[in-house]
Amino acid sequence: MSLDAHPEQRVIPRHVGIIMDGNGRWAKAHHLPRIEGHRRGAQLVRDVAGWAVDAGVRQLSLYAFSTENWSRPQQEVRGLMQLLSMMARSMLKELRQNGVRLRVLGDVARLPQDARDAVLRACEQTQDGDTLDLVLCLSYGGQQEIVAGVRKALAWAMAQPDPQAAIAALDEQRFREFLWRADLLPVDLLIRTGGEMRISNFHLWDAAYAELCFLDVYWPDFTRALFFNALSDYAGRERRFGLISEQLSG
Ligand code: FPP
Repeated sequence: MSLDAHPEQRVIPRHVGIIMDGNGRWAKAHHLPRIEGHRRGAQLVRDVAGWAVDAGVRQLSLYAFSTENWSRPQQEVRGLMQLLSMMARSMLKELRQNGVRLRVLGDVARLPQDARDAVLRACEQTQDGDTLDLVLCLSYGGQQEIVAGVRKALAWAMAQPDPQAAIAALDEQRFREFLWRADLLPVDLLIRTGGEMRISNFHLWDAAYAELCFLDVYWPDFTRALFFNALSDYAGRERRFGLISEQLSG
């Protein structure tokens, strides 16, 4: 059933995360250089933000560049950073028109200055957007985020009158406040294109109870129909969070 056709039946994920995989293989299949796959992939970013707005999703986070991606051939890294600068500048007007607030998650200090400036400027100029948070995960790694959180939590605990008691009082909720994502919602639906079935260090903390959707299409071939199909599939799933069905219906 299409969610487009039956808006009243929507059970909308509030936070959708997407691992945009398959740009390189798409390019290879079309006898093009890898960077052309990334260029097509970057063009899709604004489209998918529009689809998320149409669907009523509140937060959409896109895995655009991982911590591990820094180790790719430097030519590819440079090309991706140039694309990032262009993408941030070219989509600014449309983001503002659609009320989309751009945000970044990751070690942004590692980005080259031009890319960093372009992205942070776009974040600043869209900060009043209130329809969708478009979260670009850049120089992001879930394990790195958790390690940084542990360091922060320990520094905080050491500054308390009773550090041992402060550490003992840390639970999941409190610890989450030390992560980079303090005001992001938990990931409800995690989509990965490109045919691989893995998480690849994306949203390790907040995808704990995400519904997973693995698609056998390369990112540049991802479509509005596939996005809405994933939402439709999500709407039919029973999320039990470790409980049993009877507890949920009660
Ligand atoms: C994975 O495909 C994709 C990436 C590592 C980058 C994703 C980037 C975009 C969608 C463009 C927008 C983002 C930026 C930073 C400009 P892959 O290269 O691993 O593809 P493969 O698995 O087929 O080789």
